[in-house]
Amino acid sequence: MNREDFPILKSNIIYFDNGATTLKPYILSDSLTDYYNNYSANAHRGDYDISLKVNAMYENTRELIKDFINAKIVNQIAFTNNCTDSLNKIVFGYFKYNLKSGDEVLLTKAEHASNILPWFELSSQIGIKVNYIDLDSNHKVTLDNVKKAITPNTKVISIAHITNVVGDIRPIKEIIEYAHNLNIKVVIDGAQSVPHMKIDVEDLDMDFLAFSAHKMCGPTGVGVIYVKEELLNNIKPIIYGGGMNTSFEFDMTRKYKKMPYVLEAGTPNIADVIAFGSVINYLNKIGIKNIEQKEKELKEYALEKLKNIKDIIIYNENSESSIITFNIDGIFAQDLAIYLNKYNICVRAGNHCAKILKDDLGIKNTCRMSLYFYNTKEEIDKLVEVLSKPNIINEII
Ligand code: ALA
Repeated sequence: MNREDFPILKSNIIYFDNGATTLKPYILSDSLTDYYNNYSANAHRGDYDISLKVNAMYENTRELIKDFINAKIVNQIAFTNNCTDSLNKIVFGYFKYNLKSGDEVLLTKAEHASNILPWFELSSQIGIKVNYIDLDSNHKVTLDNVKKAITPNTKVISIAHITNVVGDIRPIKEIIEYAHNLNIKVVIDGAQSVPHMKIDVEDLDMDFLAFSAHKMCGPTGVGVIYVKEELLNNIKPIIYGGGMNTSFEFDMTRKYKKMPYVLEAGTPNIADVIAFGSVINYLNKIGIKNIEQKEKELKEYALEKLKNIKDIIIYNENSESSIITFNIDGIFAQDLAIYLNKYNICVRAGNHCAKILKDDLGIKNTCRMSLYFYNTKEEIDKLVEVLSKPNIINEII
């Protein structure tokens, strides 16, 4: 689907590492070139034509993202550097000022480092406690286990919508509804979900959502924070400087802007934000429902074929997303990834930045295949063919 839009697919690469980052369509580099060649002014600073055009294009991306996730107003959308930056800004720009010593945050052991380490740091700084929701036998989060983990001190639940190793889709609507009845805020790491399925922040009643442009055909260096409208005035800056203040005087009096500008100090990543807008238009044309459907078909096909390979261990057969995590018994994950690279097949190997999942999963290092809409059944066949080689262990070891 839409393979002709991706220059890199003219080569014979088989790219199954979309959980790490996706491939980029022509429209992305076209948009970047257009900005750099034709109107490369700063944003929010000039009163001349090309600068006004930059303002309009930059803010147009905010509007497009607002609609993409069904936010109410553009002020709910702030640009950051990546999903990690977004999660850090949520933790240190909001929760640092709204939690106190003894308050508890609930995470899971399947979270990515970016949704764990900021909370560890906040714990060291202000004395909050980090607790974990138990995962079930399929490494999934259930509402029951969320209920069991909540204590009277639980003030926030911070979880991925889709995890980057197990690829399970968490029941976030039910979790958010239950949490809100107990005045618990919920942070959603949407890095692996926003690119792959329709997200409606209003319907889900989300408090905070973080995601990255580069995992949805967009540029690197752009992340997004969504904040619920009633919390907008409570977001504090992390970086101080131009663009985020309304005034400051010699005697240190100063006033800062509200969301989103409070989080966008300094010259933003203008070219990439504008290019991300072009990519959102591109994805809208394809349709997120079509993307979801295509991935579902590919995932089912891949799982059926992979299951038959001798000595394969699949760790997440029951997960719902287009991530398949596996090993071949007796082969170290990274050795397998290097071997697949000989056939131009790209998968990720290792712990995938989810370093405390190992006890639950029973293994530290795995190979991960993560699909996107431009993958094909023929590519999957090629992977299966290579993994099925009768002498694969001898060739690798
Ligand atoms: N978070 C990215 C991944 O899972 C980098 O690969």
